[in-house]
Amino acid sequence: MNNKTMESRVNELLARMTLEEKIGQMTQISGAGEEREELIRQGQVGSFLNVVDVETYNRYQRIAMEESRLGIPLIMGRDVIHGFRTVFPIPLGQSAAWHPELVERAAAIAAREASSLGVNWTFAPMVDVARDPRWGRIAEGGGEDPYLTSQLGRAMVRGFQGEDLSAPDRIAACAKHYVGYGAAEGGRDYNTTLIPEGVLRDVYLPPFKACVEAGAATVMSAFNEINGIPATGNAFTLRQILKGEWSFDGFVVSDWQSVIEMVVHGFCADEKDAARVAVTAGVDMEMVSQSYRQHLAALVAEGKVPLELIDEAVRRILRIKMRLGLFENPYVDPARQSVLLAPEHLEVARQLARESVVLLKNEEGVLPLSGDVRAIAVIGPLADAPADQLGCWVFDGRPEDTITPLRALRERLKGKADVLFAPGLESPRSDSRKGFDEALEAARKADVVLLFVGEDAILSGEAHCRAFLDLPGAQEALIEAVAAEGKPTIAVVMTGRPLTLSRVVDKVHALLIAWHPGTMGGPAIADLLFGDESPSGKLPVTFPRAVGQIPIYYAHKNTGRPPQQIDREIPLGTPLDPIGFFSSYLDVEPTPLFPFGYGLSYTRFQYENLRLSRERIRLGESLVASVDVQNVGPVAAEEIVQLYVRDLVGSVTRPVKELKGFQRVRLEPGERRTIQFTLHTDDLRFHDRDMEFVTEPGQFHLWIGGSSVDGPRASFEIVE
Ligand code: NOJ
Repeated sequence: MNNKTMESRVNELLARMTLEEKIGQMTQISGAGEEREELIRQGQVGSFLNVVDVETYNRYQRIAMEESRLGIPLIMGRDVIHGFRTVFPIPLGQSAAWHPELVERAAAIAAREASSLGVNWTFAPMVDVARDPRWGRIAEGGGEDPYLTSQLGRAMVRGFQGEDLSAPDRIAACAKHYVGYGAAEGGRDYNTTLIPEGVLRDVYLPPFKACVEAGAATVMSAFNEINGIPATGNAFTLRQILKGEWSFDGFVVSDWQSVIEMVVHGFCADEKDAARVAVTAGVDMEMVSQSYRQHLAALVAEGKVPLELIDEAVRRILRIKMRLGLFENPYVDPARQSVLLAPEHLEVARQLARESVVLLKNEEGVLPLSGDVRAIAVIGPLADAPADQLGCWVFDGRPEDTITPLRALRERLKGKADVLFAPGLESPRSDSRKGFDEALEAARKADVVLLFVGEDAILSGEAHCRAFLDLPGAQEALIEAVAAEGKPTIAVVMTGRPLTLSRVVDKVHALLIAWHPGTMGGPAIADLLFGDESPSGKLPVTFPRAVGQIPIYYAHKNTGRPPQQIDREIPLGTPLDPIGFFSSYLDVEPTPLFPFGYGLSYTRFQYENLRLSRERIRLGESLVASVDVQNVGPVAAEEIVQLYVRDLVGSVTRPVKELKGFQRVRLEPGERRTIQFTLHTDDLRFHDRDMEFVTEPGQFHLWIGGSSVDGPRASFEIVE
């Protein structure tokens, strides 16, 4: 069906709807239940979330299609955040793979599996830029950088929706949480955000724009307020920017009760007022709370909400239902469930988990493990924790489908080496040391020690924020005790966020960040430990040394007194002694523990001969930056080649570095390849004081390297 035919079908249908039926379309209810059926029959509900069994789905759909007056199908939403039955790494881990094509394949698999149970809409991707690891929801997004998060979001939208949204194995995406949610003060969920418009437009909005450009069918309005205006009642962000400037033609759903929470925010007097504010701002569908159903008709009758606003909202919702093909194919064939956990799904989950792992330390090449180890001690509360390794926001994945590192290692080493398992701690948060002796004994008997430590899944995700970011419980003590046995010791950290690992790093020979790696985490980690593949993930977010450094991110401003190392003793009793007047802390180094973009490999890559096709370009032109990357180590491996730029002088100060491109490349030992990036002057745009989106002529630096702190530098100039 072409667009014109669809629009006239939407309009014809709209013309036949009563006001109550229109408001019904704008109403979303959670879960199944007896009384729901009558609401569907009456046309008083247009959408459900969390109905995920085919029988109920088909029954509800049949009532909507055959027993409601106009036969409008329901749209069924679900949080399919990082997989469905096959669970992929948490989104932050997927971001660490810097591999959008693979992320797209994973999202397509999630869509195939979810749609087989009647889910036709996922509340994903989450593209909230997050620069505060205390925030539990940092796990759900792409990390601290707008460019990388945009790539991740775009890949997920494409994967969920495909080329043709009406295909039975595709589902509608929802870019969330619009907008600024990740900027919660103090990293405390739902907290206030204060975001200057330029920062909103340059940092927080771009990933949403990327999703809209990729065709995202829906957008979710966030819980937070932005500069005093709740995101769910924010006409500036919703109506002016999203629907106006970006011409978004899908629909906006509120977050869970975020419409009526505007009363609690102190922004609306009561729920009726909240309904008016939300619909006026541009929220088309209300999730869970029922203020639209209860008050919109009266608000229209009183002339407080123009009917055109209701019509516009319904038009958007019907449009997406049509694009999904729900009018033609509302039902799901139960036989389709055979796709769940298909071998190729598990293979992609394994590859993505493998590529998401970041190697942060590998002293004396302790990894990969040699094939002739005879006894391996497997220690730590996350070695065999199938539910925890799935991570937060897993509704449909199951621990029993999950392969833990312990299981994977046992299978792999059967008949070849002993696997001595002693968790040491019952859970990651346990303080009891009663399991330590057993763990130490295992370490003594082993040639090598693998420590699986980190956070349990419940410590990240919505409303699960932390003020301390150390390994919880007695894990540091366990590591210290085990390391004292003097065996080669490798720590694998499963986590939903960056942790402060300063005290851990020095005690172990190797350190891997595996995030919460999902269903196939165990085999993926084993593949890396034994060198079937080299680790290739890179940090999508900065790892601080201490919580007090937060917010700490690579694309910061320079200040007038940039941070410096303060390495002298701090004198006693002399105020204003010149320790130096720098933007530093007295008690921690100015640098992060591990910077954005960082990650080691079993080989080494050398970057040389950075050159630019032109060192002077005009506005509107491009240059090509090339660098020779050589694998100078012993094994074939993949590297993420990263391009960063600095705009030296701006009418508004510019970050010290900004990621502008990356490529994942595979190089054999000794292989040297020229990697090229094309940079257009439009890639350097930012919002100036008048909110014009401009590239300002002047001098720029450009780096290509393997992290945000490495690689050769070149300079170029842009002239008018
Ligand atoms: C609240 C969360 O903020 C949102 O991300 C999620 O999609 C909805 N609940 C629905 O579960």
